[in-house]
Amino acid sequence: MWKIQLFKLNFDGRESDAAREVIESGWLTMGEKTSSFESSFGNFLGSSIYATAVSNGTAALHMALLALNIRSGDEVIIPALTFVADANVVYLVGATPIIADCGSLDNWNMTAETIAQKITAKTKAVIVVHYAGYPCDMPSIKKLCTDRGIHLIEDVAHAPGASIDGKSCGAWGDIGCFSFFSNKNLSLGEGGMVTTTNEKLNQRLRYLRSHGMTTLTLDRHKGRAITYDVIEPGLNYRMDEVRAAIGLVQLDKLPSSNLSRKHLTDRYRDNLKGTEVLIPFSQPYGAMSLSSYHILPILLPKKVDRKEVIEKLKQKGIQSSIHYPPFWDFTAYAGQFKPTDAPIVAEISQRQLTLPLFPTMRIDEVDEVTLALLGAIN
Ligand SMILES: Cc1ncc(COP(=O)(O)O)c(C=O)c1O
Repeated sequence: MWKIQLFKLNFDGRESDAAREVIESGWLTMGEKTSSFESSFGNFLGSSIYATAVSNGTAALHMALLALNIRSGDEVIIPALTFVADANVVYLVGATPIIADCGSLDNWNMTAETIAQKITAKTKAVIVVHYAGYPCDMPSIKKLCTDRGIHLIEDVAHAPGASIDGKSCGAWGDIGCFSFFSNKNLSLGEGGMVTTTNEKLNQRLRYLRSHGMTTLTLDRHKGRAITYDVIEPGLNYRMDEVRAAIGLVQLDKLPSSNLSRKHLTDRYRDNLKGTEVLIPFSQPYGAMSLSSYHILPILLPKKVDRKEVIEKLKQKGIQSSIHYPPFWDFTAYAGQFKPTDAPIVAEISQRQLTLPLFPTMRIDEVDEVTLALLGAIN
């Protein structure tokens, strides 16, 4: 249907071979491939990082809140500009999501200042999102949270492979939560990872992932255990072996696919320089940061009708999207949030548009999208 779609999988024969190998092995549920994916992913992020593979990014966020004992009566600060999963998990553990604004019309991430404005005596945690793959100013945010005794969770759904001062996103907070949904930089269809440098938290996360059980079905299959104990109530948020095997291939491709995204993003920036269209994160904020270039968000000029732009792009076969519709427009959160809670995000959410970006996209396709966009706004 689309000539240039928003996102395309970066899959080839290697993913198919990896999946086939698992299917032919006769063992599908969490086992050795998952362990291997976890250790490779942990090593990819840095030294002494524990990684636990889970069924999706929302499960990772839910487990992070449970592991940090966030509950009814607590407040958790989340970005006003994010996917609704961050609000939903806070709400579902009985706590209250509080939204913080982003830094500016160029810095679409929360900052230490915008977070500090929302801290109360009830604040127990902050969930930061490295929007579009551009890292938040983690040294300042970490210092703020440490000084105020507040837990720091990183939602790293957009940012595998991104870093600040050489330290990976997902290694700064108490817990990092990754998503491997289809459109993510590392794609599994569904999947996720929780990361931490804290050994005790890691053990708790592993119990939460699998019913609090002390052994796996695989251990019993291999004759390593006869039965199990349950240390604490847990869930079934496990990853399976097929996804873990594909994950190992996708992880291997991640540095080169992030680099392709960078080259394409650079071309978009060159093409749109000096026009009325702004691409955020024109400079790194805070410390030296490296993006994972997850999506290509733009800020349309105030005067244009966004729906018309989307329609005109569609007529040329170009898919676009909005990241994200604001919480205050959702029925489930009616009356709980208002645009004045986050005025900069309120403006961005009216004018934001996401253009196609994926590792196998060609430079001439970027040129075609920018030409169509400039035609659509004039
Ligand atoms: C910022 C953000 N947080 C959380 C999630 C949830 O991840 P998942 O879809 O794997 O549950 C997503 C995925 O779309 C996301 O973009």
